[in-house]
Amino acid sequence: MKKPRLVVLTGAGMSAESGISTFRDSGGLWDKYPVMEVASHEGFVRNPALIHEFYNTRRRELVNARPNAGHTGLKELEQWYDVDIITQNVDDLHERAGSLKVLHLHGELMKVRSMKHPERVYTLGPDNLSTSVDTRDSYGDPVRPHIVFFQEAVPNIEPAIELVEKADVLVIIGTSMAVYPAAGLVNYARRGIPVYYIDPNPAPVPDGVTVLRTTATQGVKELIDILRP
Ligand code: APR
Repeated sequence: MKKPRLVVLTGAGMSAESGISTFRDSGGLWDKYPVMEVASHEGFVRNPALIHEFYNTRRRELVNARPNAGHTGLKELEQWYDVDIITQNVDDLHERAGSLKVLHLHGELMKVRSMKHPERVYTLGPDNLSTSVDTRDSYGDPVRPHIVFFQEAVPNIEPAIELVEKADVLVIIGTSMAVYPAAGLVNYARRGIPVYYIDPNPAPVPDGVTVLRTTATQGVKELIDILRP
């Protein structure tokens, strides 16, 4: 018997309870760092060393973090649903919680790629978290974070749209819905399917969306009670 398709769109709030900073909450990353200096294409061209160090710092934070009950609750839903996670997050906490299908829209923090052959992508381990402008791959080419910077295209947006269009249930967790094209995905859900939005400080969303005004860990627990067959 085919399981119904559950698509989950997650943002930084999904990882907040794992101790990973969000971007736009007070005290968030964009309060501490000038976003266009550390996360944009122009910024990388202007000062690559600063960007390498910014992502080195975030990798060191990530290796000390653990998936929270929200991440593991989404894994639990796989027993009843064919779950696809589309995440704006660059952390690997969904994967570490055991989720089988995770599509990253904005890249992956634990990966870097060749600047000459972008198809050459390398996964960093806990014992080699840092890169710099002098880092070279085995071909002798410089590498860059495998992150989608502002001002760069989002290569996975098409497959993400296709997943949302096929969803039988859509869940949005922990995103301010501030950054496109990710924020526009909710508009591709088929009319009439149930849509849930879990966020303690939710952004405005289209009519018909059920808002659970709570945290990811509490909201996913409530969601399991709602969605359990
Ligand atoms: N549980 C659930 N949601 C939470 C929690 C929590 N414990 N704590 C905060 N939030 C919510 C906030 O209310 C906010 O709506 O998480 C959201 C975080 O919003 P942002 O910091 O804007 O993060 P996000 O929406 O993921 O940003 C999108 O912007 O800078 C770019 O590439 C970056 O992927 C990021 C994108």
